[in-house]
Amino acid sequence: MAFDIDMIKKVYANMSERVDKAREIVGKPLTLSEKILYSHLWEGNPSKAFRRGKDYVDFAPDRIACQDATAQMALLQFMQAGKPKVAVPTTVHCDHLIQAKSGAVADLKVANTSSAEVFNFLESVSNKYGIGFWKPGAGIIHQVVLENYAFPGGMMIGTDSHTVNAGGLGMVAIGVGGADAVDVMAGMAWELKFPKLIGVKLTGNISGWTSAKDVILKVAGILTVKGGTGAIIEYFGEGAKNLSCTGKGTICNMGAEVGATTSTFGYDASMERYLRATDRNDVADAANAVKGYLTADPEVYANPEKYFDEIIEIDLNTLRPHLNGPFTPDLATPVGELGEKARANGWPMKVDWGLIGSCTNSSYEDLTRAASIAQQAVDKKIKPKSDFGINPGSEQIRFTAERDGLLQIFENLGATVFTNACGPCIGQWDRSDLKGDEKNTIVHSFNRNFSKRADGNPNTHAFVGSPEMVAAIAISGRLDFDPMNDTLINEDGQEVKLDEPLGIELPPKGFEVEDAGYLAPMEDGSGVVVKVDVKSERLQLLDPFTPIKPESLQGAKLLIKAFGKCTTDHISMAGPWLRFRGHLDNIANNTLIGAVNAFNKKTNFVKNQLTGEYVGVPDAQRAYKAAGIKTVVVGDHNYGEGSSREHAAMQPRHLGVAVVIVKSFARIHETNLKKQGMLGLTFANENDYDLIQEDDTFNFVDIKDFAPEKQITLELVHKDGSKDTIKLNHTYNQSQIEWFNEGSALNVIKRENAA
Ligand code: F3S
Repeated sequence: MAFDIDMIKKVYANMSERVDKAREIVGKPLTLSEKILYSHLWEGNPSKAFRRGKDYVDFAPDRIACQDATAQMALLQFMQAGKPKVAVPTTVHCDHLIQAKSGAVADLKVANTSSAEVFNFLESVSNKYGIGFWKPGAGIIHQVVLENYAFPGGMMIGTDSHTVNAGGLGMVAIGVGGADAVDVMAGMAWELKFPKLIGVKLTGNISGWTSAKDVILKVAGILTVKGGTGAIIEYFGEGAKNLSCTGKGTICNMGAEVGATTSTFGYDASMERYLRATDRNDVADAANAVKGYLTADPEVYANPEKYFDEIIEIDLNTLRPHLNGPFTPDLATPVGELGEKARANGWPMKVDWGLIGSCTNSSYEDLTRAASIAQQAVDKKIKPKSDFGINPGSEQIRFTAERDGLLQIFENLGATVFTNACGPCIGQWDRSDLKGDEKNTIVHSFNRNFSKRADGNPNTHAFVGSPEMVAAIAISGRLDFDPMNDTLINEDGQEVKLDEPLGIELPPKGFEVEDAGYLAPMEDGSGVVVKVDVKSERLQLLDPFTPIKPESLQGAKLLIKAFGKCTTDHISMAGPWLRFRGHLDNIANNTLIGAVNAFNKKTNFVKNQLTGEYVGVPDAQRAYKAAGIKTVVVGDHNYGEGSSREHAAMQPRHLGVAVVIVKSFARIHETNLKKQGMLGLTFANENDYDLIQEDDTFNFVDIKDFAPEKQITLELVHKDGSKDTIKLNHTYNQSQIEWFNEGSALNVIKRENAA
């Protein structure tokens, strides 16, 4: 499936020299995370030590993976770069745009019709630019990556937050926005703040009902949804060694739920077994040859408190199974204690659905453990009280599970096997058992359980657990069921107890698949024509942005002065707008509609200075654009926080916003504005925010002299003719100023390519 053993060998060949050099420079033993980071510097051999949580560092990732929702804009942008092929091995995975309703065959057919133009576009772009393409139904991006591409010691980026799943195979794998992926595809460096390091020491062994999932459910309870921010979580200890590779993947996957940059484990026998079972003997052999570099130096794990910024210790011998939720994945409750909590909070006790699978938990081990519980329901004549849904993570795992009779066990309980895709995990679930927004409870083995996430209903209480616990709870139909202590009454009226789950780590007969769903790109894709229907409402080819001329920044108008929090969701809302992710002009109709207007505290209600009327933000902006007038957005602190979504910069740019002036930026959004050739500026005196009035005209009087570390002077002309002159700061370096001068970072890449 086209994993690149030569590329992997090259990474390993560099590793020893770079890691040894880094150890010398840093002057102390290295963690695994540091080894991977220092061996992937853009500059090659390390020349200085980086400060954790402080220094921004350029990296050279080995791979890129994109899912279908985010790949659209990323690839539309990449097409602008003028490159014949991607510079780094890249794959596209069609998994988000497939709805779960009646079952795999029917649902896939519907998706292949309703999203045909998006899938066709992604397939043709992939073919043209040397990108591996995984068709709809082939599987969920992270499971497919783990089965085919992840390798110990590697660095990967992906346009999905659960890219971190690949840490289960000892990678540093990080979720990024499309703009970052495009840079790397185009041959540029990828910038990241050198992360802090959290060490999690696992002692003892998991056993009985406790699973790898419970490790991360426990960690989520400790760290909360923000506790891992800016950090890599590195797991180690005897307990880590005793976990399967896919179990490690589950733990890393949900590192996203504590906000961690990523999570990882050192290379060990479980990873070797998984590599060999997934037909990658050569990767296992290559990894064995550099084993010492694929885990931390021994001294680090012997005295972790000296080398990590924070240490958490978990004793797996005493770890209990958990269910986390509802509405947040860090609300961790040991299974036996959930009943009391649910009663106190009024959470519905009856469980309507048990969902098993997703990118988080659909390994062979997961399915066998859950199936061992499901089989008991049949054997012990217990009629399940909840509906079952299964989302296999890949065609390979589905085919193997079907061959080995695992799916049949669930089907015997009336389970619906959905497409090998995200489905209910991303709200792509046409749930027919609900009439309206009624309060209800579901349990699933996914990762996220925010309000509306699974079925769009704000009153669905979703709890996250291991697949086997989900199976047990779904069979009982009650949230307060504790399979370790409680009994159930079977169809003969007898009291029966479920035995502990039994799992098989890897399929004894090996993995098998007939058609994995992979399409390799053509060797020479130059003749491939990428078709986008001009009438399409979901896809639109991009035109390069033209440079913002300094003259146009004299007489610019205020579009909106945003009050308070203005996240990327306020700037480019998600939800129903996801449909237009590949059509810049259509999605631009949501631009800033969530931002609060500081003058009237309303959303999507701003003054069009040309008419004096109050209209929606996109309407006002389109009027300015039609009149050839550039505009300015003003904002408060941490403007653009939230996601790395490049749409939040591209949409205003497309509509003709030239400048964003704020008290402070979320850094990724600031960079995205720069990449799109806009001006992202901050008030030198943040109280000057108060000087901005509703009818203001902006003159950037010295913008012609735009230079690094030189303030910009802004003359504000108010409605009554009075003026204020203020100073603005910026963080543009010389190459970023070039992006502004050329219209965008992509324009610069294109020009350099052509030269
Ligand atoms: Fe898909 Fe849910 Fe994973 S949306 S990528 S299955 S987190």
